[in-house]
Amino acid sequence: MSFRNIIVEKKDGVVKITLNRPDKLNAMSYDLLLELASALRDVDKDESVRVVVITGAGDRAFCAGADISTFKKATSIFEVRDYTGLGQEVTMMIENLGKPVIAAVNGFAFGGGCELAMACDLTIAAESAMLGQPEINLGILPGWGGTQRLTRLVGRKKAREMVFTGETITAKEAERLGLVNKAVPASELEATVKKYCETLMSKSPIALKMAKEAINRGIEVDLPTGLILEREASAVCGTSEDSKEGINAFIEKRKPQFKGK
Ligand code: COA
Repeated sequence: MSFRNIIVEKKDGVVKITLNRPDKLNAMSYDLLLELASALRDVDKDESVRVVVITGAGDRAFCAGADISTFKKATSIFEVRDYTGLGQEVTMMIENLGKPVIAAVNGFAFGGGCELAMACDLTIAAESAMLGQPEINLGILPGWGGTQRLTRLVGRKKAREMVFTGETITAKEAERLGLVNKAVPASELEATVKKYCETLMSKSPIALKMAKEAINRGIEVDLPTGLILEREASAVCGTSEDSKEGINAFIEKRKPQFKGK
């Protein structure tokens, strides 16, 4: 599939996906979502890809949300459900992707943009970025996981405040709330994200995949069930070639070379 609304670049095991509608602050149209889904399917299958980075084109926005201009056309409950469902599907794809995904939030992350950032494993933001769920101002509510993931991340009091008032917050405040991992000066965003990529690339892809699954699935179930998930994930990792390499490297006092086997 050739892309018109996103740019996909692959370099040294990292795939960077750039939402590319800067004149519309990278608002996610239906077509953009379809392209994003297609790109994510490709990177999931590609064993040479170890880390995925999602960012926005231009210097103003990561993503200003769903494309409001298309809302008018979606008049029936079926059309609205379809667009909402596609946004939810894409955010779930990120959460289910078998490799870490980093959101590099270079500007506004509003509505679906904030929901996209929340679905990523790590969110690194420029201090100049603002985040939030302003859908209430349009007479609607966050529909791509915003009421669910935001609540899980910041707790129900703060989630209700953000969703009810639609007020947006700075990246620093988002960092304090646990909505962002790290807020850095805009000039340091790229280098910080690169450093995280290098760190993740040095780990076992199997251990990362299993840890991601255990964390993401475990939070949805009771503790004993979560511990079963963790035990099974440990069993998979503990019998991998990577774990043998990790243990040998520790004993031999050298850096491990993980192969994802
Ligand atoms: N969907 C479609 N287009 C959008 C958009 C969105 N979510 N957000 C911004 N745009 C477009 C604007 O319509 C404008 O296009 P135009 O130049 O053709 O008129 C362009 O992007 C620039 O946005 P503009 O509003 O002029 O920039 P600003 O600096 O004055 O304001 C924001 C920036 C982010 C505060 C403002 O664009 C905004 O509130 N966007 C909507 C955020 C939102 O509610 N998201 C949730 C959607 S469900």
